[in-house]
Amino acid sequence: MQPSPATEGDAALDVDALLQGLAPEIKNYDLAGYTHFRTYDSEWNLNWKLGIDTFLESYHFGVLHKQSIHPILHRNVGAFDAFGENLSLLFARRSIAMLKDQPEAEWDLPKHLASVYILFPTTVLVRQGEHVELWHAFPRGVDAVQFRVTLLISEPAATEAAEAHWTKNLALLLKTVEEEDFPVREGIQQSFKSGDQPHITFGRNEPALHHFHRTVRKALNMPPAAGDSPQ
Ligand SMILES: [Fe+2]
Repeated sequence: MQPSPATEGDAALDVDALLQGLAPEIKNYDLAGYTHFRTYDSEWNLNWKLGIDTFLESYHFGVLHKQSIHPILHRNVGAFDAFGENLSLLFARRSIAMLKDQPEAEWDLPKHLASVYILFPTTVLVRQGEHVELWHAFPRGVDAVQFRVTLLISEPAATEAAEAHWTKNLALLLKTVEEEDFPVREGIQQSFKSGDQPHITFGRNEPALHHFHRTVRKALNMPPAAGDSPQ
């Protein structure tokens, strides 16, 4: 079934076209079956792109998230795919090891992944475990951004135990991003202000960062960055 165009104000949105090929994969998650748990806003002294960058590689897990998500997720391994301007980046949860002992036909692979999607330019959809996080960046200046995260859960928190479970879940995600990622990013922003570092170089193990920043430049009609050689 073709999704019908949604409208916002006077503008018609063709959701399928905006997802640029991601629609079937996201449809698999059956987001309509999820329930809103909490929405949380915060403001940071950093450029919005630095905020998005934090979702786009995993080798920092073992250093920055040693106590929070590194025990749950493997670092420095992932699967990247571009979908037009959008992208997907799949990280493996440590629980994926248990699939070795199961016939492939029985694998419930998404359960063992943390799936990150950039819906270009400012939205990040993260699906992991039993929840979905929807992050929106609202740029407020060159070095100021508001981030809004909405936590969607797989079933309503109908009991006190469920409420406690999801509250703990939200606390872990806020700790990871708001106590670990974004404060470090604010430090990077401060360093950029000094002007001593005119550019940063992304490694070959950071395809999602390459794609995101190339796409930003293209959207702004800027030439490729110096030294960039798109594959
Ligand atoms: Fe991080």
